[in-house]
Parts: sequence; C-alpha cells; structure tokens
Amino acid sequence: MPTSSKVKKQLFQIPLTPAPGTIYELGSGWGTIAFILAKKYPLHRIEAYETSWIPYYFCLLRKNFNKSSNLHFYRRNFYSVRLSNASMIFCYLFPAAMQRLLPKFHQELPQGCIVVSHTFALPGSKPHLTIEVSDLYRTKIYVYHI
Ligand SMILES: C[S@@+](CC[C@H](N)C(=O)[O-])C[C@H]1O[C@@H](n2cnc3c(N)ncnc32)[C@H](O)[C@@H]1O
Repeated sequence: MPTSSKVKKQLFQIPLTPAPGTIYELGSGWGTIAFILAKKYPLHRIEAYETSWIPYYFCLLRKNFNKSSNLHFYRRNFYSVRLSNASMIFCYLFPAAMQRLLPKFHQELPQGCIVVSHTFALPGSKPHLTIEVSDLYRTKIYVYHI
C-alpha cells in the first residue's frame, strides 16, 4: 500500500533539515517516497530497504530512468540494518513494526536524528510534531527528534 498523494504532498511540505548522514526509508515499497527523498536531499545518501521482490525490482528499473545517483535500493530486512549513521528515517509500516523498531531506534540512532512516520506512531514516544492530513482517514504524520 503506497503512501497516498495527499499524504505525500503534506509530508514533503514539512521543513526538515537532516544533519549530514544517511537518510533511510524502511520498507520502500514501489519507491513512492524514496525517489522524492533523493531529489529533495541530493547531498544525502538515501538507502531504501524492501523485502518484496516485485516492488524492489520495479524500483531498480525505475532508477535506470532516473538520475538519482544518491539513491540506493536494497532487498533486505531492515531490522538487520545498522542505523548508527542515520540523519533521518522515513517509514510507513504497521503497529507491530513500530513496536519492534522502538528499541532499535533508541540503541542505534544518533542524537539529532529525525524519524518521520505516517499513520503509525512510535509507541510511548512523544512526537516533536504531529500533522493531520485532510484526507478521508485524517492520516497523522509524526515527526520525532531523537
Ligand atoms: C505500507 S508499505 C509502504 C511503502 C512505501 N514506504 C510508501 O510509503 O509508499 C510498507 C512496505 O514495507 C515493507 N516491509 C515490511 N517489513 C519489512 C522489513 N522487515 N524489511 C523490509 N521491508 C519491509 C513491505 O514489504 C511494504 O512494501
């Protein structure tokens, strides 16, 4: 299920200034967010992780037609990726994933790292910013500063 265009529009209007470092997208699907990240943050390395073969290959194909040399796709389970050089994390996952990522974020993310998640919050964590999208579901975008 890719991020909807309404959420995407709102997401990229948030003024976010990640420190130098790698921007990760955890669960990149069809690349809906990853390609925009690469364009918006050309000086950052973008790493996008996805386990499903078909969306992963679709993204590789799309990258051939796209001049985004800072964007890298990996077909890999993101729980096994060390995130200690992250400057920003993007995710649109599901509640159990957020629960499982929480201790990993606390252990690995450097101070100042920005975490952006839409629809699902990080349990027990106070967002720095919450935005409600004016769509049918009143989708929430959560921004955390670690
Ligand atoms: C709801 S989709 C979001 C796709 C994309 N981020 C977007 O916003 O359009 C979540 C994606 O996460 C992937 N995913 C879930 N768990 C994963 C894991 N442990 N490692 C890598 N990808 C995962 C799923 O295969 C799915 O494509």
